[in-house]
Amino acid sequence: MATSYLELSQVGIEFDSRHGKFRALDDINLSLDRGEFVSLIGHSGCGKSTVLNIVAGLHEATEGGVILEGKEVNRPGPDRAVVFQNHSLLPWLTVYENVELAVNRVFKGHKSKSERRDWILHNLRRVNMEHALDKLPSEISGGMKQRVGIARCLSMEPKVLLMDEPFGALDALTRAQLQDSLMAIQAELGNTVIMITHDVDEAVLLSDRIIMMSNGPAATISKILPVNLDRPRDRLALAEDREFVRLRHAVLEFLYGNKSEPVTPAATALTDDAAVDKRESITTEKNYRVTSGMRPLTAMA
Ligand SMILES: Nc1ncnc2c1ncn2[C@@H]1O[C@H](COP(=O)(O)OP(=O)(O)O)[C@@H](O)[C@H]1O
Ligand SMILES: [Mg+2]
Repeated sequence: MATSYLELSQVGIEFDSRHGKFRALDDINLSLDRGEFVSLIGHSGCGKSTVLNIVAGLHEATEGGVILEGKEVNRPGPDRAVVFQNHSLLPWLTVYENVELAVNRVFKGHKSKSERRDWILHNLRRVNMEHALDKLPSEISGGMKQRVGIARCLSMEPKVLLMDEPFGALDALTRAQLQDSLMAIQAELGNTVIMITHDVDEAVLLSDRIIMMSNGPAATISKILPVNLDRPRDRLALAEDREFVRLRHAVLEFLYGNKSEPVTPAATALTDDAAVDKRESITTEKNYRVTSGMRPLTAMA
């Protein structure tokens, strides 16, 4: 049997909620090769973060499971580093100390103190943050905090990098810069990445495959779109590229093309306010950014 690097097999999860059991995910099957970059895309609340949290070991699947390099995942670990949307730096530690914490956790006993220092600096250099070593998180911008969060994750040399809308809270220009940095880092290090995004252009620009999820409850993978664009990828050149435009359209079509399709029978059957909210939220485009950083920067207002 061919084994994949990371395998989600028949993953389902049921939460206990105030109104009883809530089935968020059902029968999620996904195999990743080492070095592959996949994006998860789907409407708000469909279960993307839940998938990521199961891979991170933060949630336990009710059915099925996750295998990473032949070992079952059942708790959090430094082999699966997570970058959240709202940078999770410790506010009382400096930029340097935030990365140091992770490096000490993984490498104490394996690297000497001076090797660890070099390694921390190396990782901060990778994200262009070596100029701000002694700054506190409150003294740097949101984009810089995300850079430090990425450096912290990279410094642990994780097998898998999990990113939950990592650039979602940033302005378009900063987002574009971070996307480019992430592509360069991934080209150098060959990280295996699962990234959640609301940004269609970001998904196409960065991914080898785009995993499109159906709406919940009992969300699952509806469609997988391979992205066979050459690397390195250049956002300006791709804006005019026919294949890029086709892929982008395919994702938009999935999200908005058939508005009646995403409402599952279970969601339709609900009559309370939550169900109405849910139907509204899945037919609105307000949660999605489709412009991203793909326009020439000079054209941005
Ligand atoms: N700990 C939890 N307990 C109960 N329900 C949860 C919990 N976490 C997530 N959910 C529900 O599971 C569904 C998927 O949530 P989530 O994975 O956060 O969606 P997404 O990241 O796609 O926006 C939502 O309906 C959410 O309310
Ligand atoms: Mg989420």
